[in-house]
Amino acid sequence: MEIFNTVSTLQQHLYQLTRSGKKIGFVPTMGALHEGHLTLILDAMEENDIVVCSIFVNPTQFNDPNDLKKYPRPIEKDTQMLESVGCHVLFLPEVEEIYPAGLVEPEFDLNGLDTPMEGAKRPGHFKGVVRVVYRLLDIVKPDSLYMGQKDFQQYSIIAQMLRQLNSGIRLVMVPIVREIDGLAMSSRNVRLSKEGRAHAPILHKVLQEVEYYVNSQPFPIPHKATELAFDLFKQHGIEQIDYFEIVDGNSLKTLHSFEDSHFAVVCAVIVIDGVRLLDNVILFEK
Ligand code: PAF
Repeated sequence: MEIFNTVSTLQQHLYQLTRSGKKIGFVPTMGALHEGHLTLILDAMEENDIVVCSIFVNPTQFNDPNDLKKYPRPIEKDTQMLESVGCHVLFLPEVEEIYPAGLVEPEFDLNGLDTPMEGAKRPGHFKGVVRVVYRLLDIVKPDSLYMGQKDFQQYSIIAQMLRQLNSGIRLVMVPIVREIDGLAMSSRNVRLSKEGRAHAPILHKVLQEVEYYVNSQPFPIPHKATELAFDLFKQHGIEQIDYFEIVDGNSLKTLHSFEDSHFAVVCAVIVIDGVRLLDNVILFEK
């Protein structure tokens, strides 16, 4: 695997490859990699000649400076993991490479996709995500971009940005990778206590119950599904629910009736041991 720290050296390398017609797949990350990230890399490897992964802990998407400071940076382990799956290129820039003085950045109309759910809990977060993904795409110029379903709202927002750019970049959503007990893989899971970790799979179980209700009832109703979920959380002693939303998968607007949508997604965040656990399930896509 070739590792580049600067935009110019990376671009020189990629220019040679694209000139000879090689297709580039890109997987942006903030490091602290787990199997979920490796699945993104493996999917990208299947569909492209060259896979570029970036590891950049993006300061503009953190609203809490402490969170940014505490963010894990196990770079040696990450490098080994990427090498183990045969990733071709790792881009590992410093902040100055991504946000140099005088950088001209476009504004995007996110069409309200950045206001609910994570957007309400973490003001400014998605503006930072859009800034960095735009900049990284402008540097790497990939044919395809791979993002995880786990951050469904992030995926939707990047899809909206790409539509506005009319960039021709193909966006691929890679399904959530789960532990054997259903817990969605996340770099945050290591911060759970032993008891917290044992409790955490309840989030996916509740989302599955909601999925079952929606797809087994002749006339399911979103607010009934929500009641069911809150009852189950209560039964299992989950007290902190950051949000639980049944939304249209395109607009991210709360659904009041399933008749109003061809694409329904349930998104939720619960907090265990102070750790925010984020998950979602696509209820149907017609
Ligand atoms: O999902 C992430 O890890 C980050 O938000 C991303 C897309 C790499 C941007 O920093």
